[in-house]
Amino acid sequence: MDIAGKPVALLPGLKMTVATEGVVAPIADGPEKAYEVGREGAGDIFPGRHGQALERARWRQILTIDSESHQIEGRILLNVMCHYFGDLADTEQNDVQSGTPHMLNPRPVGAPSSDITERIPVAWPALPRTDLLVPYLRQIDEARIYTNHGPLVDRFETRLAERLGFRKREVIACSTGTMALVGAIRAARNLSGCRGRLCLLPAYTFVATAGAALSCGYDCHLVDIDRRTWAIEPAALRQHPRLSEVGLVLPVAPYGRMIDLQGWQDFHDETGIPVVIDAAACLDRLMEPGISLPKTIPLAVSLHATKSFGCGEGGLVLSRDTTLLEETYKVFNNGFLGSRDAQTVGLNGKMSEYTAAVALAELDGFDEKSAQWSRVAAAYATAGNAIGARLWTAPETSGCYALIEASSPPQAAMIGARLITAGVDIRNWYGAGLSEHPAYAQLSRDPLSVCADVAGCVIGLPCFTDLTKADIGRIVAMLAV
Ligand SMILES: Cc1ncc(COP(=O)(O)O)c(C=O)c1O
Repeated sequence: MDIAGKPVALLPGLKMTVATEGVVAPIADGPEKAYEVGREGAGDIFPGRHGQALERARWRQILTIDSESHQIEGRILLNVMCHYFGDLADTEQNDVQSGTPHMLNPRPVGAPSSDITERIPVAWPALPRTDLLVPYLRQIDEARIYTNHGPLVDRFETRLAERLGFRKREVIACSTGTMALVGAIRAARNLSGCRGRLCLLPAYTFVATAGAALSCGYDCHLVDIDRRTWAIEPAALRQHPRLSEVGLVLPVAPYGRMIDLQGWQDFHDETGIPVVIDAAACLDRLMEPGISLPKTIPLAVSLHATKSFGCGEGGLVLSRDTTLLEETYKVFNNGFLGSRDAQTVGLNGKMSEYTAAVALAELDGFDEKSAQWSRVAAAYATAGNAIGARLWTAPETSGCYALIEASSPPQAAMIGARLITAGVDIRNWYGAGLSEHPAYAQLSRDPLSVCADVAGCVIGLPCFTDLTKADIGRIVAMLAV
């Protein structure tokens, strides 16, 4: 139902009118609570179930600044889940001032970031703005090639390989990080001759790791993680009682924390078991000097908008084994390579030229973005020095994560509650571990006490490129134990 132009009460003390183009005209007014709000902008706003218990509510003004006319347009990003509107004490300022146009999405200049009434979201991605995409989009118009490994995808792979210090044929772009896992898993299995049906993977990961393995026909068995690395370790898996059934190991580099790549290569060389590394959040880590790819085992990377390097949806498979990458390419290309005869069972996992346009523009601006990630990490490190709890940020994690590790789950719960009450959004990125998701609760597993402990202690804090020092100060003030 379209409620454009009609008054919408979002938070107590704030009433706003949403116009058709998504321009927001706020009117201060008394409290009203009646709407569940959809994901973004006008037209996506739906009247909700009155009085429903909702967990979180946030609205945020997004401003577009026209650098020529200096006109500012506002639109509102709405995200309300699970809380009573009436229980939320926030009201936000809506006054708009002019500000400096920026390559990335500008932070709303009217929103005073140190104002404790403003909710801070846990992530607020910023991908290249339209102007920066236009030259690439025009190239697509000219070439009239829209997908099937077109010139922009090819250029993206070439330039990214250069940036990583890899050879061009060591990089394949694809549609998502999950698809990168699927492609690498299928390719590794096709080439290995290893027929085991069991996949060992860590219990502490994002659900996509398990989803990818299951969709390739493996039975999954969850393994506990190491307390220090939050990852599964090759030495421990060599002793695993079910090793003889294993046809795939899927180690995960959690939050971009680098894992023992050489150790996994050795594990593969010794056992013959295919290993695919879920390095979803590792692209910025791999750009650091001195990190090289393992001899043969592949890495699957995500270019999701929330990652440090994003293009909306996208993925990469990286490997020095060019035979494996050729097989991966076939998997992404419905099994085709050089003829119309499918040579392997494949899927469509290709990256489109439009996505490559975003990825190329992201690469053009990545030095600047990377500096912003570093600035955020440094501000967390400085502010966090005195808090007495462990903060994890870049360069130990990928730039897009800031995590606090409490000393116990109850302490984490207390910190989490304090942050939410103070208007700071948090996220357990991996939930309570795979075994706690209904879809994966039936998977066989080892005892998972370390996973439960880490999942209970680690909280994802807000992390985005235009998070200010004042925001970080406000967040860290809530963390002292
Ligand atoms: C550990 C891990 N694996 C896999 C994925 C899946 O990547 P994508 O969302 O690009 O499909 C993610 C995404 O966040 C992830 O964090």
